[in-house]
Amino acid sequence: MIKIFITFVTLTTTCSFAPLQLQAQNQNQSPIPSLKETFKNDFLIGTALNTAQIQEKDPAAAQLIPLQFNAATPENIMKAAIIHPGWDQYNFTLADQLVAYGQKNKIKITAHTLIWHSQLPDFVRSIKSPDSLRQFFTNHITTLASRYDGKVFSWDVVNEALEENGSLRKSIFLQLLGEDYIVEAFRLAQKAAPHTELYYNDYNIEQPKKRAGAVEIIKKIKAAGVRIDGVGIQGHWRASHIPLAEIEQSILDFSALGVKVMFTELDLSVLPNPWDRDNADVSATAGNSTGKDPYPNGLPDSVQNVLTKGYEDLFKLFLKHKDKISRITFWGVNDGQSWLNDFPIRGRTNYPTLFDRAYKAKPAFYAVIATKK
Ligand code: G3I
Repeated sequence: MIKIFITFVTLTTTCSFAPLQLQAQNQNQSPIPSLKETFKNDFLIGTALNTAQIQEKDPAAAQLIPLQFNAATPENIMKAAIIHPGWDQYNFTLADQLVAYGQKNKIKITAHTLIWHSQLPDFVRSIKSPDSLRQFFTNHITTLASRYDGKVFSWDVVNEALEENGSLRKSIFLQLLGEDYIVEAFRLAQKAAPHTELYYNDYNIEQPKKRAGAVEIIKKIKAAGVRIDGVGIQGHWRASHIPLAEIEQSILDFSALGVKVMFTELDLSVLPNPWDRDNADVSATAGNSTGKDPYPNGLPDSVQNVLTKGYEDLFKLFLKHKDKISRITFWGVNDGQSWLNDFPIRGRTNYPTLFDRAYKAKPAFYAVIATKK
Protein backbone atom coordinates (compact mmCIF):
# COMPACT_ATOMS: atom_id res chain seq x y z
CA MET A 1 0.00 0.00 0.00
CA ILE A 2 2.79 2.44 1.01
CA LYS A 3 4.68 1.56 -2.16
CA ILE A 4 1.61 2.33 -4.31
CA PHE A 5 1.19 5.75 -2.57
CA ILE A 6 4.87 6.71 -3.13
CA THR A 7 4.61 5.70 -6.77
CA PHE A 8 1.50 7.90 -7.16
CA VAL A 9 3.23 10.93 -5.54
CA THR A 10 6.28 10.48 -7.75
CA LEU A 11 4.14 10.24 -10.85
CA THR A 12 2.07 13.32 -10.06
CA THR A 13 5.15 15.45 -9.54
CA THR A 14 7.07 14.31 -12.60
CA CYS A 15 4.61 13.53 -15.38
CA SER A 16 2.12 15.61 -17.27
CA PHE A 17 -0.62 14.82 -14.71
CA ALA A 18 1.08 17.22 -12.25
CA PRO A 19 -1.33 19.53 -10.41
CA LEU A 20 -1.98 22.83 -12.18
CA GLN A 21 -0.51 24.90 -9.36
CA LEU A 22 2.80 23.07 -9.59
CA GLN A 23 2.99 23.51 -13.34
CA ALA A 24 2.40 27.25 -12.96
CA GLN A 25 5.15 27.51 -10.40
CA ASN A 26 7.62 25.71 -12.63
CA GLN A 27 6.68 27.97 -15.51
CA ASN A 28 7.32 31.08 -13.43
CA GLN A 29 10.69 29.75 -12.39
CA SER A 30 11.88 29.04 -15.92
CA PRO A 31 14.73 31.49 -16.47
CA ILE A 32 14.30 34.50 -18.71
CA PRO A 33 17.17 36.46 -20.25
CA SER A 34 18.81 39.11 -18.10
CA LEU A 35 18.77 42.77 -19.12
CA LYS A 36 21.96 43.57 -17.23
CA GLU A 37 23.79 40.60 -18.79
CA THR A 38 22.47 41.30 -22.27
CA PHE A 39 23.69 44.91 -22.20
CA LYS A 40 26.73 44.42 -19.95
CA ASN A 41 29.15 45.72 -22.62
CA ASP A 42 26.87 48.63 -23.54
CA PHE A 43 25.40 50.44 -20.54
CA LEU A 44 24.17 49.88 -17.01
CA ILE A 45 20.53 48.84 -16.68
CA GLY A 46 18.75 50.42 -13.74
CA THR A 47 15.41 50.62 -12.02
CA ALA A 48 13.70 52.90 -9.54
CA LEU A 49 13.19 51.19 -6.17
CA ASN A 50 10.44 51.87 -3.67
CA THR A 51 10.61 51.18 0.06
CA ALA A 52 9.10 47.68 -0.10
CA GLN A 53 11.59 46.68 -2.77
CA ILE A 54 14.57 48.06 -0.84
CA GLN A 55 13.39 46.11 2.19
CA GLU A 56 12.82 42.96 0.07
CA LYS A 57 9.24 42.62 1.31
CA ASP A 58 7.95 41.09 -1.93
CA PRO A 59 9.72 37.79 -2.73
CA ALA A 60 9.04 38.07 -6.48
CA ALA A 61 10.64 41.50 -6.67
CA ALA A 62 13.50 40.47 -4.39
CA GLN A 63 14.31 37.63 -6.75
CA LEU A 64 13.89 39.53 -10.01
CA ILE A 65 15.71 42.81 -9.30
CA PRO A 66 19.27 41.48 -8.77
CA LEU A 67 18.93 39.22 -11.82
CA GLN A 68 17.85 42.03 -14.13
CA PHE A 69 19.42 45.27 -12.88
CA ASN A 70 22.90 46.51 -11.97
CA ALA A 71 21.85 50.09 -11.16
CA ALA A 72 19.08 51.60 -9.05
CA THR A 73 17.64 54.95 -8.05
CA PRO A 74 15.50 55.46 -4.94
CA GLU A 75 12.09 56.50 -6.24
CA ASN A 76 11.30 58.67 -3.20
CA ILE A 77 13.28 57.93 -0.03
CA MET A 78 16.20 60.30 -0.64
CA LYS A 79 14.05 63.30 -1.53
CA ALA A 80 14.40 66.20 0.91
CA ALA A 81 10.91 65.91 2.43
CA ILE A 82 11.64 62.35 3.51
CA ILE A 83 15.34 62.34 4.35
CA HIS A 84 15.58 65.86 5.87
CA PRO A 85 12.20 66.71 7.42
CA GLY A 86 13.41 69.30 9.98
CA TRP A 87 16.29 71.81 10.29
CA ASP A 88 18.45 69.40 12.30
CA GLN A 89 16.48 66.27 11.61
CA TYR A 90 17.56 63.62 9.11
CA ASN A 91 16.02 60.18 8.48
CA PHE A 92 18.95 58.15 7.20
CA THR A 93 17.53 54.70 7.93
CA LEU A 94 16.00 53.91 4.52
CA ALA A 95 18.91 55.38 2.54
CA ASP A 96 21.35 53.34 4.64
CA GLN A 97 19.27 50.24 3.87
CA LEU A 98 19.41 51.10 0.17
CA VAL A 99 23.21 51.39 0.30
CA ALA A 100 23.43 47.97 2.01
CA TYR A 101 21.02 46.49 -0.57
CA GLY A 102 23.17 47.86 -3.39
CA GLN A 103 26.36 46.46 -1.86
CA LYS A 104 24.80 43.04 -1.31
CA ASN A 105 23.45 42.81 -4.86
CA LYS A 106 26.24 44.63 -6.75
CA ILE A 107 23.82 47.35 -7.79
CA LYS A 108 25.18 50.88 -8.36
CA ILE A 109 23.05 53.49 -6.61
CA THR A 110 22.23 56.90 -8.06
CA ALA A 111 21.04 58.98 -5.12
CA HIS A 112 18.01 61.10 -6.08
CA THR A 113 18.00 64.02 -5.52
CA LEU A 114 19.75 66.89 -3.69
CA ILE A 115 18.14 70.07 -5.05
CA TRP A 116 14.58 69.83 -6.40
CA HIS A 117 11.72 72.33 -6.06
CA SER A 118 9.26 69.47 -5.42
CA GLN A 119 8.95 67.18 -2.38
CA LEU A 120 10.54 69.83 -0.16
CA PRO A 121 9.99 69.62 3.60
CA ASP A 122 7.42 72.04 5.04
CA PHE A 123 10.04 74.05 6.90
CA VAL A 124 11.79 74.88 3.60
CA ARG A 125 8.57 75.86 1.86
CA SER A 126 7.99 78.52 4.49
CA ILE A 127 11.47 80.07 4.29
CA LYS A 128 11.38 83.69 3.09
CA SER A 129 14.95 84.89 3.63
CA PRO A 130 17.84 84.17 1.24
CA ASP A 131 20.21 83.62 4.18
CA SER A 132 18.01 80.93 5.71
CA LEU A 133 17.54 79.17 2.41
CA ARG A 134 21.29 79.29 1.72
CA GLN A 135 21.87 77.76 5.15
CA PHE A 136 19.46 74.90 4.38
CA PHE A 137 20.96 74.47 0.90
CA THR A 138 24.53 74.21 2.25
CA ASN A 139 23.62 71.93 5.17
CA HIS A 140 21.47 69.67 3.03
CA ILE A 141 23.99 69.13 0.24
CA THR A 142 27.02 68.86 2.52
CA THR A 143 25.43 66.46 5.00
CA LEU A 144 23.98 64.07 2.44
CA ALA A 145 26.71 64.16 -0.17
CA SER A 146 29.46 63.56 2.41
CA ARG A 147 27.58 60.82 4.28
CA TYR A 148 27.07 58.79 1.11
CA ASP A 149 30.35 59.61 -0.68
CA GLY A 150 31.93 56.34 -1.78
CA LYS A 151 28.71 54.53 -0.84
CA VAL A 152 26.54 55.66 -3.72
CA PHE A 153 27.88 55.73 -7.28
CA SER A 154 26.31 59.04 -8.24
CA TRP A 155 23.99 61.89 -7.26
CA ASP A 156 21.30 63.70 -9.21
CA VAL A 157 22.60 67.00 -7.81
CA VAL A 158 19.99 69.28 -9.36
CA ASN A 159 16.66 68.00 -10.68
CA GLU A 160 14.20 69.73 -13.02
CA ALA A 161 15.55 73.29 -12.87
CA LEU A 162 14.19 74.22 -16.31
CA GLU A 163 10.90 75.45 -17.75
CA GLU A 164 9.70 74.03 -21.07
CA ASN A 165 11.00 77.11 -22.95
CA GLY A 166 14.53 76.55 -21.64
CA SER A 167 14.51 79.35 -19.08
CA LEU A 168 15.24 78.61 -15.43
CA ARG A 169 12.24 77.43 -13.43
CA LYS A 170 10.99 80.06 -11.01
CA SER A 171 11.61 77.81 -8.02
CA ILE A 172 12.25 78.92 -4.47
CA PHE A 173 15.95 78.40 -5.18
CA LEU A 174 16.02 80.72 -8.19
CA GLN A 175 13.92 83.34 -6.47
CA LEU A 176 15.89 83.52 -3.23
CA LEU A 177 19.40 82.46 -4.27
CA GLY A 178 19.63 83.74 -7.84
CA GLU A 179 20.65 81.87 -10.98
CA ASP A 180 24.07 80.80 -9.69
CA TYR A 181 22.42 78.36 -7.32
CA ILE A 182 22.94 75.50 -9.77
CA VAL A 183 26.71 76.02 -10.05
CA GLU A 184 26.82 76.41 -6.25
CA ALA A 185 24.97 73.12 -5.74
CA PHE A 186 27.54 71.30 -7.87
CA ARG A 187 30.42 73.11 -6.12
CA LEU A 188 29.17 72.01 -2.70
CA ALA A 189 28.51 68.46 -3.92
CA GLN A 190 31.96 68.22 -5.49
CA LYS A 191 33.58 69.27 -2.21
CA ALA A 192 31.52 66.89 -0.09
CA ALA A 193 31.55 63.93 -2.49
CA PRO A 194 34.85 63.73 -4.35
CA HIS A 195 34.31 60.04 -5.16
CA THR A 196 30.75 60.34 -6.48
CA GLU A 197 29.60 61.15 -10.02
CA LEU A 198 27.48 64.31 -10.22
CA TYR A 199 24.57 64.77 -12.65
CA TYR A 200 21.97 67.25 -13.85
CA ASN A 201 18.60 65.48 -14.37
CA ASP A 202 15.42 66.70 -16.10
CA TYR A 203 12.45 65.67 -18.25
CA ASN A 204 11.79 66.79 -21.84
CA ILE A 205 15.39 68.02 -22.24
CA GLU A 206 15.49 66.17 -25.54
CA GLN A 207 13.17 68.92 -26.82
CA PRO A 208 15.12 71.72 -28.59
CA LYS A 209 14.31 74.71 -26.36
CA LYS A 210 14.64 72.87 -23.08
CA ARG A 211 17.74 71.06 -24.37
CA ALA A 212 19.35 74.45 -25.10
CA GLY A 213 18.66 75.42 -21.49
CA ALA A 214 20.31 72.23 -20.25
CA VAL A 215 23.32 72.80 -22.51
CA GLU A 216 23.69 76.28 -20.98
CA ILE A 217 23.57 74.86 -17.46
CA ILE A 218 26.27 72.29 -18.23
CA LYS A 219 28.48 74.88 -19.94
CA LYS A 220 28.10 77.29 -17.05
CA ILE A 221 29.07 74.67 -14.47
CA LYS A 222 32.13 73.71 -16.50
CA ALA A 223 33.09 77.35 -17.12
CA ALA A 224 33.12 77.89 -13.36
CA GLY A 225 35.68 75.08 -13.05
CA VAL A 226 33.18 72.87 -11.25
CA ARG A 227 32.71 69.17 -11.95
CA ILE A 228 29.62 67.75 -13.68
CA ASP A 229 29.94 64.15 -14.89
CA GLY A 230 26.68 63.53 -16.66
CA VAL A 231 23.22 64.52 -17.72
CA GLY A 232 20.06 62.50 -17.18
CA ILE A 233 17.30 62.65 -19.77
CA GLN A 234 14.40 61.30 -17.73
CA GLY A 235 12.46 59.65 -20.57
CA HIS A 236 8.79 59.92 -19.50
CA TRP A 237 7.24 59.51 -22.93
CA ARG A 238 4.03 58.33 -24.56
CA ALA A 239 4.52 54.98 -26.30
CA SER A 240 2.78 56.28 -29.41
CA HIS A 241 4.77 59.55 -29.61
CA ILE A 242 8.42 58.87 -28.84
CA PRO A 243 10.52 61.81 -30.08
CA LEU A 244 13.28 59.65 -31.57
CA ALA A 245 14.90 62.36 -33.72
CA GLU A 246 15.13 64.80 -30.79
CA ILE A 247 16.42 62.06 -28.52
CA GLU A 248 19.20 61.24 -30.99
CA GLN A 249 20.15 64.91 -31.37
CA SER A 250 20.26 65.28 -27.59
CA ILE A 251 22.60 62.33 -27.22
CA LEU A 252 24.92 64.01 -29.74
CA ASP A 253 24.64 67.53 -28.28
CA PHE A 254 25.12 66.51 -24.65
CA SER A 255 27.97 64.11 -25.31
CA ALA A 256 29.72 66.83 -27.35
CA LEU A 257 29.98 68.76 -24.06
CA GLY A 258 32.07 65.95 -22.59
CA VAL A 259 29.49 64.55 -20.16
CA LYS A 260 27.98 61.08 -19.91
CA VAL A 261 24.43 60.76 -21.23
CA MET A 262 21.90 58.68 -19.32
CA PHE A 263 18.21 57.84 -19.63
CA THR A 264 17.26 57.97 -16.00
CA GLU A 265 13.50 57.51 -15.52
CA LEU A 266 12.35 55.62 -18.59
CA ASP A 267 8.68 54.66 -18.88
CA LEU A 268 6.21 54.71 -21.77
CA SER A 269 2.62 55.60 -20.98
CA VAL A 270 -0.11 53.88 -23.02
CA LEU A 271 -3.03 55.88 -21.59
CA PRO A 272 -4.59 59.01 -23.04
CA ASN A 273 -3.38 62.14 -21.30
CA PRO A 274 -5.50 65.25 -20.96
CA TRP A 275 -2.81 67.55 -22.38
CA ASP A 276 -1.67 65.44 -25.35
CA ARG A 277 1.93 66.11 -24.54
CA ASP A 278 4.68 64.68 -22.34
CA ASN A 279 4.66 66.06 -18.85
CA ALA A 280 6.33 64.89 -15.66
CA ASP A 281 5.41 67.90 -13.55
CA VAL A 282 4.00 66.18 -10.49
CA SER A 283 2.00 69.24 -9.48
CA ALA A 284 -0.07 69.05 -12.69
CA THR A 285 -2.80 66.56 -11.79
CA ALA A 286 -6.13 66.17 -13.53
CA GLY A 287 -8.61 64.71 -11.04
CA ASN A 288 -9.67 61.10 -10.60
CA SER A 289 -10.16 58.27 -13.05
CA THR A 290 -13.95 58.08 -13.40
CA GLY A 291 -14.61 56.98 -16.99
CA LYS A 292 -11.00 57.58 -18.02
CA ASP A 293 -9.38 54.19 -17.38
CA PRO A 294 -9.63 52.39 -20.73
CA TYR A 295 -7.73 49.16 -19.96
CA PRO A 296 -8.49 48.14 -16.35
CA ASN A 297 -8.34 44.40 -17.13
CA GLY A 298 -5.44 44.14 -19.56
CA LEU A 299 -3.94 45.73 -22.63
CA PRO A 300 -5.40 45.03 -26.09
CA ASP A 301 -2.87 43.51 -28.51
CA SER A 302 -2.90 46.63 -30.69
CA VAL A 303 -1.72 48.80 -27.78
CA GLN A 304 0.68 46.15 -26.51
CA ASN A 305 2.27 46.22 -29.98
CA VAL A 306 2.72 50.00 -29.84
CA LEU A 307 4.45 49.68 -26.46
CA THR A 308 6.67 46.86 -27.72
CA LYS A 309 7.64 48.75 -30.87
CA GLY A 310 8.35 51.89 -28.83
CA TYR A 311 10.81 50.08 -26.57
CA GLU A 312 12.38 48.30 -29.54
CA ASP A 313 12.95 51.59 -31.40
CA LEU A 314 14.43 53.20 -28.31
CA PHE A 315 16.89 50.40 -27.57
CA LYS A 316 18.02 50.28 -31.20
CA LEU A 317 18.81 53.99 -30.88
CA PHE A 318 20.51 53.52 -27.50
CA LEU A 319 22.70 50.75 -28.94
CA LYS A 320 23.62 52.91 -31.94
CA HIS A 321 25.03 55.45 -29.45
CA LYS A 322 26.22 53.09 -26.75
CA ASP A 323 29.65 54.77 -26.69
CA LYS A 324 27.97 57.93 -25.36
CA ILE A 325 25.33 56.41 -23.07
CA SER A 326 26.32 55.05 -19.65
CA ARG A 327 22.97 53.96 -18.16
CA ILE A 328 19.33 53.23 -18.95
CA THR A 329 17.11 53.26 -15.85
CA PHE A 330 13.43 52.25 -15.88
CA TRP A 331 11.18 54.24 -13.55
CA GLY A 332 9.77 51.23 -11.75
CA VAL A 333 10.37 47.48 -11.77
CA ASN A 334 6.84 46.58 -12.87
CA ASP A 335 3.59 48.13 -14.06
CA GLY A 336 1.95 47.97 -10.64
CA GLN A 337 4.62 50.18 -9.09
CA SER A 338 4.47 52.95 -11.67
CA TRP A 339 3.61 56.54 -10.71
CA LEU A 340 1.75 56.64 -14.06
CA ASN A 341 -1.14 54.72 -12.48
CA ASP A 342 -1.84 57.94 -10.56
CA PHE A 343 -0.65 60.62 -12.95
CA PRO A 344 -2.00 62.79 -14.43
CA ILE A 345 -5.25 61.11 -13.37
CA ARG A 346 -5.46 59.14 -10.13
CA GLY A 347 -6.40 55.47 -9.94
CA ARG A 348 -5.89 54.29 -13.53
CA THR A 349 -4.27 51.13 -14.89
CA ASN A 350 -1.16 51.91 -16.91
CA TYR A 351 1.36 49.51 -18.46
CA PRO A 352 4.57 51.51 -18.92
CA THR A 353 7.37 49.09 -17.91
CA LEU A 354 8.84 45.80 -19.17
CA PHE A 355 7.26 43.63 -16.43
CA ASP A 356 3.57 43.14 -15.69
CA ARG A 357 1.89 43.34 -12.29
CA ALA A 358 2.93 39.75 -11.53
CA TYR A 359 6.56 40.54 -12.50
CA LYS A 360 6.19 38.49 -15.68
CA ALA A 361 8.26 39.70 -18.65
CA LYS A 362 6.10 41.40 -21.29
CA PRO A 363 6.54 41.30 -25.10
CA ALA A 364 8.40 44.64 -24.79
CA PHE A 365 10.99 42.92 -22.58
CA TYR A 366 11.73 40.32 -25.25
CA ALA A 367 11.82 43.00 -27.96
CA VAL A 368 14.41 44.94 -25.94
CA ILE A 369 16.53 41.80 -25.47
CA ALA A 370 16.21 41.02 -29.20
CA THR A 371 17.74 44.38 -30.18
CA LYS A 372 21.12 42.85 -29.25
CA LYS A 373 20.76 39.99 -31.73
O1 G3I B 1 4.40 58.33 1.51
C1 G3I B 1 3.12 59.00 1.42
C2 G3I B 1 2.09 58.28 2.23
O2 G3I B 1 2.46 58.36 3.58
C3 G3I B 1 0.73 58.95 2.00
O3 G3I B 1 -0.25 58.23 2.66
C4 G3I B 1 0.40 58.95 0.50
C5 G3I B 1 -0.92 59.66 0.20
O4 G3I B 1 -0.89 60.31 -1.04
O5 G3I B 1 1.42 59.63 -0.16
C6 G3I B 1 2.69 59.03 -0.02
O6 G3I B 1 3.62 59.80 -0.71
C7 G3I B 1 3.60 59.69 -2.11
C8 G3I B 1 4.97 59.26 -2.58
O7 G3I B 1 5.02 59.28 -3.99
C9 G3I B 1 5.33 57.86 -2.10
O8 G3I B 1 4.45 56.91 -2.63
C10 G3I B 1 3.24 61.05 -2.68
O9 G3I B 1 1.90 61.38 -2.37
C11 G3I B 1 3.43 61.04 -4.17
O10 G3I B 1 3.26 62.37 -4.67
C12 G3I B 1 4.81 60.57 -4.51
O11 G3I B 1 4.93 60.55 -5.91
C13 G3I B 1 6.25 60.47 -6.41
C14 G3I B 1 6.55 61.72 -7.23
O12 G3I B 1 7.82 61.60 -7.84
C15 G3I B 1 6.58 62.96 -6.35
O13 G3I B 1 7.68 62.94 -5.51
C16 G3I B 1 6.33 59.22 -7.30
O14 G3I B 1 6.22 58.05 -6.48
C17 G3I B 1 7.66 59.21 -8.04
O15 G3I B 1 7.65 58.19 -9.01
C18 G3I B 1 7.88 60.54 -8.76
O16 G3I B 1 9.16 60.52 -9.36
C19 G3I B 1 9.52 61.69 -10.11
C20 G3I B 1 11.02 61.86 -9.99
O17 G3I B 1 11.40 61.90 -8.63
C21 G3I B 1 11.49 63.12 -10.72
N1 G3I B 1 11.04 63.11 -12.11
C22 G3I B 1 9.60 62.88 -12.32
C23 G3I B 1 9.18 61.59 -11.62
C24 G3I B 1 7.73 61.28 -11.88
O18 G3I B 1 6.92 62.26 -11.33
